[in-house]
Amino acid sequence: MKKNKKLLIAGNWKMNGLKKNSLMISNLMKYIKNKKFKNTDILICPPFTIANIFSTLSKKSNLMIGAQNCSDKASGAFTGDISPEMLKDIDLEMVILGHSERREYHNETSEIVKSKAINALKNKLNVIICVGESLSQKKSGKTLRIIGDQLKKSLPDKISSNNLIIAYEPIWAIGSGKIPTIDSINEMFNMIRQWLLNNGIDNNIKILYGGSVNKENAKEIFSCRDLGGLLIGGVSLKAKEFSEICIMAG
Ligand code: PGA
Repeated sequence: MKKNKKLLIAGNWKMNGLKKNSLMISNLMKYIKNKKFKNTDILICPPFTIANIFSTLSKKSNLMIGAQNCSDKASGAFTGDISPEMLKDIDLEMVILGHSERREYHNETSEIVKSKAINALKNKLNVIICVGESLSQKKSGKTLRIIGDQLKKSLPDKISSNNLIIAYEPIWAIGSGKIPTIDSINEMFNMIRQWLLNNGIDNNIKILYGGSVNKENAKEIFSCRDLGGLLIGGVSLKAKEFSEICIMAG
């Protein structure tokens, strides 16, 4: 990842996509081909099973391919796990860690997220670390404390804007069609930025917003101060709409 001020538009395919969906990636590359993205990097994180195909297809394009998870172990008897070295082996550039679905369904604590991130960085794989509050945490006014705690426990020590990105994804906004107000996203970005500053961490680290982004609400979200980009789930499976958001980003 180059050191830059560009926005990152990242697609998280979650557990979706078969070999035949490789057409989608070809379509996406077609839509974004010849577009001069001065301000935008584009990333797609498909499931492991098709990551190699996507990585091969996207060579020499303006599209990066990443993964949705990795192990905190280097290699060995860890059935079903995938190491960062394996991801690098198929030329993946980034890995999403600490997504709320992994935290919830796989009991991934912030400590586990941190050790995965350390392992990824050791293997020169850039990392997107997700943080976000649930609806009940939000309703009980715990948002700032929860996010602060996730940042404190999930972020490794040696990080910079060259190797790490933070994604703020309110859990209640993921897949729900609801997004926070722009004021509230700005407030969260401020809080995260302040936290980085207070902890002596590279202040240029990008902060993405994620949760129910689509082409209708993207325009409004792009007006957020300090937006480092978007992490998009459902809509990243739709080549045309996803590419329109990328083009909107510029
Ligand atoms: P969504 O997912 O865009 O489908 O809400 C976002 C995410 O989970 O990263």
